[in-house]
Amino acid sequence: MSKIPGFKGKAFFAPMAGVSDPAFRLLCSENGAGLVVTELTSVHAIVAKEKELREQERKITDFIEYSERERPVSVQLFGNDIDLVVKAAKIVEPYFDVIDFNMGCPAPHITNQMAGAALLQEQEHVKELFTRLVKAVDKPVTLKVRAGISDSDKKMFLPIAKIAEEAGVKMIALHARTLKQGYSGEADWSLIKELKENVSIPVVGNGDVWTPEDAKRMIEETGCDYVMIGRGAMGNPFIFRQVNEYLETGTYEDISTDEKLGYFFKYLEYAKDYKIPFHAVRTQAMQFTKGLKGGSELRLRIGKSRDKDDLVRVIEEFKKQKV
Ligand SMILES: Cc1cc2nc3c(=O)[nH]c(=O)nc-3n(C[C@H](O)[C@H](O)[C@H](O)COP(=O)(O)O)c2cc1C
Repeated sequence: MSKIPGFKGKAFFAPMAGVSDPAFRLLCSENGAGLVVTELTSVHAIVAKEKELREQERKITDFIEYSERERPVSVQLFGNDIDLVVKAAKIVEPYFDVIDFNMGCPAPHITNQMAGAALLQEQEHVKELFTRLVKAVDKPVTLKVRAGISDSDKKMFLPIAKIAEEAGVKMIALHARTLKQGYSGEADWSLIKELKENVSIPVVGNGDVWTPEDAKRMIEETGCDYVMIGRGAMGNPFIFRQVNEYLETGTYEDISTDEKLGYFFKYLEYAKDYKIPFHAVRTQAMQFTKGLKGGSELRLRIGKSRDKDDLVRVIEEFKKQKV
């Protein structure tokens, strides 16, 4: 039976489309994230790409890039077609430590295919999906799920979690918002507590952890085994170091402007090894410069930068002005 790997810390980096690229994940991992997760990837795309890449004697990891230094690293899949989910999982499993299945994405182009959070409404289908998926692969399968579709059915995750656990899923992350909520309102942490009380496998609490204090409070209030941080880690990979320090000692070190920019340059260095499009790198730059004094003016200039050299020049100039 596949077991979940040992984690480096209690705080995981959430899967985030356009943000959790391999360079940024590596920064999070080096800063003590217990687990990092790739952005969601379509099972259709994996199956199609694998064929194309195989014909060129290349591997699927040219499409879903990662490095050994990130481990443990989880790959997140989304889809509805069970045959394709199984096929895609078998393609990626040699490279990743965990196979995560997405039942949380609220984006219409995904829910319209009855994938992501829309699958909350399909208990029988989900049962078959997890039963077949868990049997098909040797790596542990985990689930990331939203609470429900709307406020009136915000506990749809409970029967789904039971189904997943029975099928052999090894860990469940709950983003304690409904599909309809998107990212608005507050995450309802009481739902994470309810999940923890109803399953025996590890529970990962997710939603609105912005600070080490939030992480501690979520663990205390819900009893969750791990916390998952998404937006709070954007431009802020050192939050994992701070959470670990805070959970251990009750205090943590702040980070200076120089250190923050230093992390961005490290990100750029790492990004050279991967096919990360420039617009994504620029978005990362925007995140890293949030909250810095003079940051809004800097971001205007970042927004106008045309390539990596231009971007580096703009930030170097900002740094010099600060000294
Ligand atoms: C830009 C962005 C991209 C995201 N992409 C994914 C994704 O690929 N897969 C997924 O399961 N969740 C995705 N999410 C949701 C996050 O993983 C997380 O559940 C959500 O942001 C709540 O956590 P937070 O309050 O710590 O940000 C995304 C969220 C954002 C803001």
